[in-house]
Amino acid sequence: MLIRSDQGFNHRANSDITPAHVYARRREFVQQLAALACLAGSGQGLAQTVQRPGKLAALNSVVSALPGAQTADTPTPYKNASTYNNFYEFGTDKSDPAQNAHSLKTQGWSVEIEGLVKKPGRLHLEDLLKLSAMEERIYRMRCVEGWSMVIPWVGYSLSELIKKVEPLGSAKYVEFITLADPKTMPYVGSRILSWPYTEGLRLDEAMHPLTMLSFGMYGEVLPNQNGAPVRLTVPWKYGFKSGKSIVKIRFTENQPATAWNKAAAHEYGFYSNVNPNVDHPRWSQASERRIGDGGILAKKVKTLMFNGYEAQVGQLYAGLDLTKNF
Ligand code: MTE
Repeated sequence: MLIRSDQGFNHRANSDITPAHVYARRREFVQQLAALACLAGSGQGLAQTVQRPGKLAALNSVVSALPGAQTADTPTPYKNASTYNNFYEFGTDKSDPAQNAHSLKTQGWSVEIEGLVKKPGRLHLEDLLKLSAMEERIYRMRCVEGWSMVIPWVGYSLSELIKKVEPLGSAKYVEFITLADPKTMPYVGSRILSWPYTEGLRLDEAMHPLTMLSFGMYGEVLPNQNGAPVRLTVPWKYGFKSGKSIVKIRFTENQPATAWNKAAAHEYGFYSNVNPNVDHPRWSQASERRIGDGGILAKKVKTLMFNGYEAQVGQLYAGLDLTKNF
């Protein structure tokens, strides 16, 4: 390290000026960084050291080597990611899900696979957890409302599950149906949306390796408010495509209805790809505010086409008019 002195620049050891235990810890940190750099060099992707909040059960994973699965952007603090949420089954204020979702019952969870597949049936959470190796992927998530976060998710590609259940040739879309239990979800039954909250993807979008079935974040199982015990994460689409607390996955021939499209078709299309060039009818989508970077006073940053995942997913939409198919 270079230190400025009156004589110019000279080298001094850290140990000259730093207490020994701090120095030792710093050395350990530098060694960890070096190890991560080696991982990156070996093609295993650039890992970030994500702070483990240590509240929930740990969910071990390997650093994903998938192109697009790591980012140089700093992860959003866990506190923001777990207290600033959209989960309308628990209320419409951003703080409602963290306050109310403790009533969600995740024990004995299962996901029903139905529709146009060779192997329909019910998959218990324990079996889903074992279906493929867990990976950590750090995705930028952009909400249609104009804010964004950077979240280290734990899970695997949804395609792993899709391959297991063997879609029929006639299957063109995948519908995601989430839990709607009025006993544990106080806003189910309200007229904000039609329940259950459903979402959908084209089969090729669902098969894209970046489309993730997520069971955890920040190295732990998902907190209820983030969609426990299993949710979707689709980083190049607006956040509402990422359905939380999924109970059913249905393979269909026709494009499924989705909760937000049913509520306001002219505002929320089926595709909902992040696109700075296509405005929401009531506001621009050209920029976003990173949650955690100074709150509502945070400087806006430019929104990127497909949320910055164009190299990975752009070809899915070749020839499609994205103004009409918003
Ligand atoms: N899933 C369900 N079941 N209910 C919801 O209200 N909100 C969506 C999506 N998934 C929602 C949902 C919206 S609008 C967003 S922006 C993301 O979840 C927010 O995810 P996060 O709270 O983990 O950031």
